[in-house]
Amino acid sequence: MTSAIVAVDRELRKKLCAIVTQKTGIQLPENKSAMIEGRLRKRIRAVGVPDVRTYLELVFEGGQLATELPHIIDVLTTNKTDFFRENAHFDFMTKHILPKHQTRRALRFWSAASSTGEEAYTTAIVFAEYAKRQPGFQFTILGTDISSTVVSKARQGVYSRDEIVDIPKPMQDDYLELGHSSDGRALARVIKPLREKVKFAQMNLTAMPYPVDKNMDVIFLRNVLIYFNDAMQRQVIKAITDHLRPGGYLIVGHSESAAATDPRLTQHAAAVFRKEAV
Ligand SMILES: C[S@@+](CC[C@H](N)C(=O)[O-])C[C@H]1O[C@@H](n2cnc3c(N)ncnc32)[C@H](O)[C@@H]1O
Repeated sequence: MTSAIVAVDRELRKKLCAIVTQKTGIQLPENKSAMIEGRLRKRIRAVGVPDVRTYLELVFEGGQLATELPHIIDVLTTNKTDFFRENAHFDFMTKHILPKHQTRRALRFWSAASSTGEEAYTTAIVFAEYAKRQPGFQFTILGTDISSTVVSKARQGVYSRDEIVDIPKPMQDDYLELGHSSDGRALARVIKPLREKVKFAQMNLTAMPYPVDKNMDVIFLRNVLIYFNDAMQRQVIKAITDHLRPGGYLIVGHSESAAATDPRLTQHAAAVFRKEAV
């Protein structure tokens, strides 16, 4: 037996994958047992049970499902993100979306799988740079994610120096304040005026309808559709498109264009879609 999870009743393992898919849309391939066990290990230690089998018994047979589910979702979601990730999308906004926003109304932006906040804060930096050239340009930014742990990290807006390397130096100078943690680690925090422009909330993309304003101007839904099956991708794209104003833009991850199937969307650049007025 190579790994403890192999010893877990097949039934318990299946139940775990099924409940995660049911609650989050995330498909966990059964051959990823080692990955699942690895990610659950920290939680197993925190709960104080000896192994994954005992943990899953506690969850499914010991009445602990409601308590443990948020922790399970936290550890089983993949939260990889970066500042200025897939930078072409931020360039597209600066060149093609922002100049068309001629009204005095604040532009409404939603990062719909915001992870630890880098995507939303990158957008805030890009918008603040644009506002330097176009005084009066106003914006609101919302970031949502299913994992409450990443949402609280995003709200803090505190990053290690390694995490900020992709932010150009002049922007680091303008939008970050440097400091240290209590144990001496070098940190950077997004400055307060920019943090105040960005609101974060916990939200599950597979639980429709969404408690979010409609008429968004731009929605980023990047690198999350890949975790859903085709049917769930279609449902999420439809629900997200409902939240765009006609003429608004949906931007997905570079490998996710094929999922943007809603008939109201037309493609304008790689992974960039516009909702047509009907
Ligand atoms: C790989 S990160 C992508 C972050 C960012 N959009 C980017 O492209 O850098 C995927 C995020 O989707 C979130 N996620 C997964 N399933 C979700 C769901 N059903 N509802 C909302 N967020 C979800 C995960 O918690 C994770 O933070």
